[in-house]
Amino acid sequence: MARQRIVVLSGAGVSAESGLGTFRDSGGLWEQHRIEDVATPEAWATDPEHVLRFYDMRREQTLKAVPNAAHRAIAALEQAFEVDVVTQNIDDLHERAGSSRVMHLHGEILKARSTKDPDLIVPLNGPSLRWGDRCPLGSQLRPHIVWFGEAVPLIPEAAALVAGADRLVVVGTSLQVYPAAGLVHYLPQERSLWVIDPHPVPLQGPHVHTIRSKASEGMPRLASAWLQEVSA
Ligand code: OAD
Repeated sequence: MARQRIVVLSGAGVSAESGLGTFRDSGGLWEQHRIEDVATPEAWATDPEHVLRFYDMRREQTLKAVPNAAHRAIAALEQAFEVDVVTQNIDDLHERAGSSRVMHLHGEILKARSTKDPDLIVPLNGPSLRWGDRCPLGSQLRPHIVWFGEAVPLIPEAAALVAGADRLVVVGTSLQVYPAAGLVHYLPQERSLWVIDPHPVPLQGPHVHTIRSKASEGMPRLASAWLQEVSA
């Protein structure tokens, strides 16, 4: 029998217990920094070094962090399911936990991108990206991050994955940022959706199952129930 397809839509909450702060929880990143100063094309045009420092901090923290039980449980689902992770996170913790198909909607902190050719993306080997660091075409490199006000190029591909999913898990995201938040609406109506978050997330309906817990508790519980179900 064909393996069922699971899509996991993850957000900052899945990495919170690895020590990477979320954005909108109390004390979150957007309480400490103004979005318009660090995460917009205008911020980059006005004060690129400030923007680079902000993302250098994100990179340093990512390099120190390790995957937690939630990342590992998501990776373990591959034992019995076709799994696609669609993440809003810019860290690489899903990959380090062993997930083999990870789509980063909002970019990746361990990569930089040419300001001349957006398809020219290079890995970042060190913790910092500096003003004056150039791409092979000679133009300034910028963080490989989707900023507010920019298009999210992977949305059509992500929507197709959700549309083909047998089960959707939404974990650790407040679903406040579009177009990523709108992806849940591509799930066919009769398919089930599980939400794992310690706080209320605005999703309801007959096919929505809510697990009010931290990702490191809820995700392993759900994954082991599903793995047992298919091995029975
Ligand atoms: P948010 O900070 O908006 O939401 C984090 C979610 O994680 C909230 O629903 C929390 O309740 C939940 N949470 C907190 N701790 C958790 C835990 N231990 N386990 C599970 N859930 C937990 O982060 P995102 O929804 O990911 O984009 O934010 C979406 C986008 O907004 C980000 O990708 C980023 C940001 O601005 C860009 O920078 C472009």
